[in-house]
Amino acid sequence: MRIESWIEPDDLAAVMERDPAIIDENDAKRYHTGLHAVAMYRRSHKLWLEGKKDRARKINFIAHRRTGCDIHPGATVGKGFFIDHATGVVIGETSIIGNDVTIYQGVTLGGVSFNKGKRHPTIGNRVVFGANATVLGDIVIGDDVRIGAGSVVLKDVPPNSTVVGIPGKVIARNGEPVRSDVLKHNDIPDYLGDKIVSMESDMEELRRTIAELQSASRRDVDLLTDLSVPPKSTAEKEGFR
Ligand SMILES: CC(C)(COP(=O)(O)OP(=O)(O)OC[C@H]1O[C@@H](n2cnc3c(N)ncnc32)[C@H](O)[C@@H]1OP(=O)(O)O)[C@@H](O)C(=O)NCCC(=O)NCCS
Repeated sequence: MRIESWIEPDDLAAVMERDPAIIDENDAKRYHTGLHAVAMYRRSHKLWLEGKKDRARKINFIAHRRTGCDIHPGATVGKGFFIDHATGVVIGETSIIGNDVTIYQGVTLGGVSFNKGKRHPTIGNRVVFGANATVLGDIVIGDDVRIGAGSVVLKDVPPNSTVVGIPGKVIARNGEPVRSDVLKHNDIPDYLGDKIVSMESDMEELRRTIAELQSASRRDVDLLTDLSVPPKSTAEKEGFR
């Protein structure tokens, strides 16, 4: 199997451009596992389109074993595709990937359904996937998007955005930070409003206490009235019995 002969010039150029660790073109052609994975995918995809599915799957199988990268022969990938380190990369059958895309190790473009139709992501041009990023379902990732290492992206992402986290959230758009947790005016504390509510509650408490005291005092007066001794007669007052 002459993998070197399957390497496309744009894919080699992508390695030379985007891998600072590469020594020269010979180094890339011989030892760059990502470039080997892409070259073997190119060959298997060609066979797949020609209807030679068994041969395509065989190359896919060997590529997976050799490079740790599993790109289904049915996936559609544009030119200048760069995979660094290759290990653990999985690209599903109905994925569509634009030009000049960069993928680091551990990235998954996966499906979320057992249906046979389009179930994998559609990726724009110049998208960069950080290590171990996972993108799931028939969603669209726009041109020039950067997906942070370890992110899990489940929804469409607009072009020129940076997405990070689980689930992935857009943190920058067109070079400007996007902060979803600020400027929530409905969440700003209402100091005066809170104070009035607290004073109303204090006043209610005071009203209750005053009413209890008044009623207790009325009870005492009634009790004293009930217990009161009848007034003494004049004779008793003067000591005659
Ligand atoms: C997503 C990425 C492209 C953003 O880079 P950046 O524009 O320089 O962004 P910053 O480093 O300024 O980070 C912006 C914010 O996002 C956060 N952030 C960055 N990357 C993140 C990630 N992968 N997951 C979660 N949060 C992340 C930062 O903590 C920072 O948050 P803060 O503003 O609250 O402090 C980059 O962080 C990344 O993940 N690159 C992938 C690189 C890679 O996988 N290399 C593998 C080589 S083998």
